[in-house]
Amino acid sequence: MNQDQLKKMVGEAARDEVLKLASGQVLGIGTGSTVNCFIDALAPYKAHFSGTVSSSNATTERLLKHGFKVLNPNDVNGLPAYVDGADEIDSLGNMIKGGGGALTREKIIASMAKQFICICDSSKQVSVLGAFALPVEIIPLAQGVVTRELEKFGGKVSLRLAKSAQEPFVTDNGGWILDVAGLSISNPLSMESQINQIAGVITVGLFAKERANILLVSNTAGVVRLIL
Ligand code: 5RP
Repeated sequence: MNQDQLKKMVGEAARDEVLKLASGQVLGIGTGSTVNCFIDALAPYKAHFSGTVSSSNATTERLLKHGFKVLNPNDVNGLPAYVDGADEIDSLGNMIKGGGGALTREKIIASMAKQFICICDSSKQVSVLGAFALPVEIIPLAQGVVTRELEKFGGKVSLRLAKSAQEPFVTDNGGWILDVAGLSISNPLSMESQINQIAGVITVGLFAKERANILLVSNTAGVVRLIL
């Protein structure tokens, strides 16, 4: 079974999970290739939800193409659940996210939700976060100062480049991303709060305060559901 099949399988499991929620509510939807499988699987059942809130322009485009209603988060009071992938997740539900660059909106929508349902394949499960470079979204003019502050954590900091590799990758919010490689994150909550306090940081892709509550994880034997 290849990784695409594992993503499809967990996307379908997430569809079954959210269809257990009472109908007529608004659902929070993340970003990435695993979430794309979830959106495609949920599309025939979109009437179960009164609408969605989306964590990126790419997700919004996909939702609209399927005929989902996409609401402005400012018009929504709360969400029963938010479904998203992860780049790494530990046994407590702490995650590194932002491989796709959508971390800021992902964290905002996650903070509105009662439950964070993380969907991934088992390659994303780790005992200690940090083998995946930690994304940090920044205000562009703060690149120099934030880089120097992040280097104090011991990792190697690099500016994420666009596909052309000629210019910086620009997020949906107009921010840039610094990727911090080589960390071993023993206390995700503390590191999240320390990095958040650096002037010029918009969002750090550590999700400890907004950690996952439910993990649906696929492997060649099927999908396992864990309550974290
Ligand atoms: C995007 C994210 C994604 O959830 C994360 O990168 C996982 O993506 P994929 O499902 O494509 O592996 O945080 O900002």
